[in-house]
Amino acid sequence: MKPLVNKIVCIGAGYVGGPTMAVIADRCPDLDVTVLDLNESRIAAWNSEELPIYEPGLAAVVSRARGRNLRFVGQTEGAAHVAAADAVFISVNTPTKTDGEGAGKASDLRYVESCARFIATHAKGHTIVIEKSTMPVRAADRIKSILASAGPGVTFDILSNPEFLAEGTGIRDLEAPDRVLIGGERPEPIAALAEIYRRWVPAERVLSTGLWSAELSKLVANAFLAQRVSSINSISALCEVTGADIEEVASVIGADSRIGPKFLRASVGFGGSCFQKDLLSLIYISESYGLTEVAAYWQQVVDLNQWQKHRFADQIAAPIATAEGSLRGRRIAILGFAFKKDTNDVRETPAIDVCRQLLARGATLAVHDYKVTSDSIASELGAKGVEVATSPEAALAGADGVAVLTEWSAYAKLDWARLAGTLNACAMIHDGRNIVDAEAVRRAGLNLRSIGKGGQSNT
Ligand code: NAD
Ligand code: UGA
Repeated sequence: MKPLVNKIVCIGAGYVGGPTMAVIADRCPDLDVTVLDLNESRIAAWNSEELPIYEPGLAAVVSRARGRNLRFVGQTEGAAHVAAADAVFISVNTPTKTDGEGAGKASDLRYVESCARFIATHAKGHTIVIEKSTMPVRAADRIKSILASAGPGVTFDILSNPEFLAEGTGIRDLEAPDRVLIGGERPEPIAALAEIYRRWVPAERVLSTGLWSAELSKLVANAFLAQRVSSINSISALCEVTGADIEEVASVIGADSRIGPKFLRASVGFGGSCFQKDLLSLIYISESYGLTEVAAYWQQVVDLNQWQKHRFADQIAAPIATAEGSLRGRRIAILGFAFKKDTNDVRETPAIDVCRQLLARGATLAVHDYKVTSDSIASELGAKGVEVATSPEAALAGADGVAVLTEWSAYAKLDWARLAGTLNACAMIHDGRNIVDAEAVRRAGLNLRSIGKGGQSNT
């Protein structure tokens, strides 16, 4: 008997669509998987040896499936694939709206709506439409109303199948997820999608809920994760003034199985394309239902994150600024620009805020990252006062201050004894990720300031 889903299309070849479809195609060689995107250069990159995103393990998965049962195509070629598809994933961006009602908070669904129109125009027979993008709760209603414009005899089921992968560990997360979530209104399409995931995900990890619970759960999962980071970051400030050590506090509270040890790393602040966007979406939804206390509660998670980034930039400036607060003539080495290690993604990276604040005070920056391109850095910061360094050593040469903003493993192994001579005397190292080898820095006679360290560890 022909399985219910045999031919899959995914609209959106980004950080989610590309890796997710590559893993589905890899794990299900009998399925036919097409990923389409209107960005032709992105599609060309997916079809080359230089993939458009850096994600450990991705290249191997793509090379096994591409040309066998996985293809990347442009919009025009994609139309025929949508017509033949049993299931179409929508995996396009849902950024924060920049204009119109809800600007600055609500999710912008224009790309999702354009996908729904594309599907309504080209689909034939019955198609399962799957929300893979992160949506506001009840977004499926809007998709349904667009799909209703399809011609006679064209029918749809709609599912919510939000993605929980984290960048940098995306392939591992897709291959061994904590859970897969499928929300829907009828058991048959839920079962058809669940059957695909069950090829490699244990059945008890494939959860099914109603549509609205699935949409809301995704936003809430990100909100809870972001809340943990803001919680630990708020305590990092308290540690610094009381002499406590944030790593000691985190390990003590994390030993309580009700709290758990993960996501308790104090930092310069959380970044990435989703935490802030999804928090703002949750805040907007709460406000639109008149739940102002709920909205205010989650707003504080965003505000604390902004404060942490500004606090960190102020700490970098304090020892080297003039009496008027200017950093003119000061050179600051920025180690790491990606929003976390093992990715080249700079969307909402805390480095943008920290760097802009230092530039606004007149500093010159020497920015290094292992995977972020100089074009990405320039498009966020501009060229004025910014030099892109090709090695940590080049960034550090002649620096008056150093800021570690991404936890790239190699920064933890820097040879500070060798580097000390290249820095200006008295240059302070500000570790925004608590990865720098504190002992090595002190042995080299340098000054280190780490997030959440009051300097009174009992160990
Ligand atoms: P992305 O910006 O990397 O990719 C989106 C792609 O969609 C782009 O290549 C864009 O050209 C394409 N696109 C937009 N409109 C299109 C259209 N009408 N037709 C064809 N292609 C179109 O975004 P992303 O990071 O992959 O995120 C996608 C969604 O997944 C978002 O809703 C995000 O919140 C969610 N999400 C992201 C992550 C992550 O780690 N990045 C994780 C979980 C969920
Ligand atoms: C996050 C979630 O972890 C994923 O489950 C979700 O699918 C995804 O958002 C999404 O919806 O886009 P991601 O943003 O890729 O994934 O990466 P995280 O590992 O969650 O890190 C987010 C930010 O928080 C990073 O800037 C990271 O450095 C920071 N962070 C994380 C901390 O500062 N401390 C921690 O303990 C953990």
